[in-house]
Order: sequence, then C-alpha cells, then structure tokens
Amino acid sequence: MGLKVLVVGGGGREHALVWKIAASPLVDSVIVAPGNAGIREEAECVPVAAEDVAGQLALALARKVDLVVIGPEAPLVGGLSDQLRARGIAVFGPSQAAAALEGSKAFMKDLLARYRIPSAGHRTFTDPTEALAHLRVSPVPVVIKASGLAAGKGVIVATTRAEAEAGLGRIMVEREFGEAGAEVVIEDFLPGEEASLLALVDGERVLPLAGAQDHKAVGEGDRGPNTGGMGAYSPAPVLDAALTARAIDEILLPTVRAMAREGRPYRGVLYAGLMIHEGGIRVLEFNARFGDPETQPILMRMRSDLVPLLLATATGSLAGQVIDWDERVALCVVMSAGGYPGAYKKGDRIEGLEAVRGMAGVKVFHAGTEATEAGIVTAGGRVLGVTALADDVAAAQGLAYAAVDRIRWRGSYCRRDIGYRAVGREKR
Ligand code: AMP
Ligand code: GLY
Repeated sequence: MGLKVLVVGGGGREHALVWKIAASPLVDSVIVAPGNAGIREEAECVPVAAEDVAGQLALALARKVDLVVIGPEAPLVGGLSDQLRARGIAVFGPSQAAAALEGSKAFMKDLLARYRIPSAGHRTFTDPTEALAHLRVSPVPVVIKASGLAAGKGVIVATTRAEAEAGLGRIMVEREFGEAGAEVVIEDFLPGEEASLLALVDGERVLPLAGAQDHKAVGEGDRGPNTGGMGAYSPAPVLDAALTARAIDEILLPTVRAMAREGRPYRGVLYAGLMIHEGGIRVLEFNARFGDPETQPILMRMRSDLVPLLLATATGSLAGQVIDWDERVALCVVMSAGGYPGAYKKGDRIEGLEAVRGMAGVKVFHAGTEATEAGIVTAGGRVLGVTALADDVAAAQGLAYAAVDRIRWRGSYCRRDIGYRAVGREKR
C-alpha cells in the first residue's frame, strides 16, 4: 500500500510540492487543503483554509493520512505540527516553538545575536516613541521590520529619514500589517547580493537544497515595494560550492544547534535568506518553510524522489540521504494581478493556459487561481508561476517569457527581468 499524503496550502509552492509528491512511486494519493485550480488537476482538493489548524487536524485524522506536508507559515506558527505529532501522524514542518525563527523576527534576531551568528545589527522595540527616537539617530538607509508574520511585505528599506519615520508609523501606529507590527525590529542596512539557501533539517543534520535567487521587489531592477516574490531561479551563481559550504558552517549548522540548545529542535525545511558581500555571508531572514516562488524552480531541478527526503526529515533520519539535481537552470516568472502588493482585483478570466500546456520544458504552477464555470479565474495577488527548464539562464528566461506571452488576463502583470543578474554574469 502506498502512502496517503496531505499537503496544507494552496499557493504556487504547494502546487510544486504536490506535483513532485504525486510523482513519487511511494505515494498512492495526495489530498490538498485548500489547493487551487491548478492543483485540482493533479490531486483531490478539500476546502479547508491553510491557517485553520483545527480543520486541518480533523481532515488529517478523518482521512487517515500517513504524512502531512505543511506549506505556509501560518499553520506552522499556529502549532499544527505539534497537534499532528501528538496524534502520531508524521509531519513535515517544524513545531510552533521552532517556527518562531520565522514567526518572530525579534526572537530570531535575539537568538542570532546571542549565538554570534552573522546578521545585521539591530534593536527591537514595542514602544513607538522609543522606536522613533532610535530612528532619529540611525544612519540611513535603515531597515524597519514588523516582527510578526506579514506575508513577506512587512519590511521597509528606507533610504531617507522621512521615509523611515513614515514606515515606522505605517507598521506600528497604523498597523498596516496588523498585530505583526506590535513589535518592530530596526536593522542596519546591509549592502550586497541576496540568495536563498534552503536546507532539510532533521533536528541535527542539515541537507542543503540547490541554491536559488528570488526577486522580492515588485518593479524591474528591484525597485518598488517588496512582495512575496516576483520570480526566482536555481541555481544561484552567487552561491557557488564554496559559499554554500560556508553558509552551512557559519549559519545553518550554528542555528540548528542553537535551536536544539534552546529546547526548540528544528525539523523541517529551513530557509535562510542570505546577504553576500565582499566574501562575507550574513542572514537577512529565516523562514520555517519552503520559499515561494523558489520552490518552483528548485523542485523542477530535483531528480530525486522528494518523499523519502520529507519522511527522513520528519523522522530525524537524514543521515546518508543525498539529492540528485538536474544540472540545467530552472527559472520561474510570477504573473500577478495588477496592483499587487497593494489592492488588486480578483475574478478575471485567465486566457492561454491551454496554449502553454504542451510546451516542452515549461510547467505553469498555479497560485491564486480558482476553477469556476466560466473557466479558471484569478483569485489572489500572485496568480501563476510560469517555470522553465533549459541549458542556461538566458535560455530558461527566454522559454519562460515565451510561455508568459501566451497567457493573459485583464490587468495581468509580471517583471520582465527575472534572472537579470545571472544573465549578466553569463554574458561576462
Ligand atoms: P526579510 O523578509 O527580512 O528578508 O526582508 C525582505 C527584503 O528586504 C529582503 O529580501 C531584502 O531585500 C530586504 N532587506 C531586509 N533586511 C535587510 C537589511 N538588513 N539590509 C538590506 N536589505 C534588507
Ligand atoms: N520568496 C520569499 C519567501 O518565500 O519568503
């Protein structure tokens, strides 16, 4: 008998996970809650919201699943893993205590400082007056972060003091990101190039995935406000083998050991957002889950079966596991609703999905989509992750945009420069 797997979530990351998990010979069936229109073509979807911890637990028990894979941060921070483990269900995803690495930037920054793990200098505030006083004497640029969860949007990189003060007001006083802004972290600005290094962690051991690079800003050339991520590719040339090894030794392993020492052993995927500058590596952020959209290109390159890796992570037995990667480059372009990360429309009919279905080397991962009688319509800010696999970055970029150009809906938007840093490196 094969395994019955429940995947929690309904975004592009979860579509990629479901696609990869369903391809495993170990798996009999995949249930997804809540899923989306693309996932529905590959697995059974059940309408339980990702953050509905009680609902997800009830679903896992009712359907007697063998493994639960938790995609987004909200159910992790809400303690879903703990509840599943308490009922004896294998779960891929850290405990609530370990997910604090993502759920509380104040906790994370304090941990890194105490264990001397390289990161930006910082101060934490719960009082807006004190935070403002600190900003008035901070050099700019300066970075202001809502401590809690804010869907990748609660970070303001301010280049002037006026912008910094306005940003603080939005986070702490206007509460643009809700309770996430009750506490803020004010950080030194770090120059450099960013990369994402994700690793499977079984409590002790760290097994890195292929490196990736994300594009967080909404505008071309990395301008404009931050989003959840507008595109990503793997491998990231900036994260060569030597830097990856150093990132493991200097950042990931010390963090995993620190979490164990703190009585919060980490089991799941640990996502390190890194800043690389003049040979130094520092942590910008940790996420307690797979990155979105990094997962789409990373999994497109993964040759190994993902399911034994998820099980080994869940059961503390990563020793001896290896991952086989496709040498080629995968690149994902996110198509979003116009207006995102601000207000945007939903319910626009998406045209052209059939036209790209047969394209070799292309996979369209759905994020905010919904199947209706009128066809597939938009249902979120990030709508699709059009992902291509090819011999080099330029070719993957060309192929991804060739597919993007066949898809449209009223008000659709995408950055046209995903992968530009790596394409520039390739040309040199
Ligand atoms: P975070 O969610 O903490 O990774 O922040 C989102 C984005 O803001 C990062 O991907 C960076 O582009 C930027 N950022 C965050 N912290 C810093 C920092 N200390 N220095 C420079 N840029 C930063
Ligand atoms: N792409 C950034 C994230 O998943 O947080």
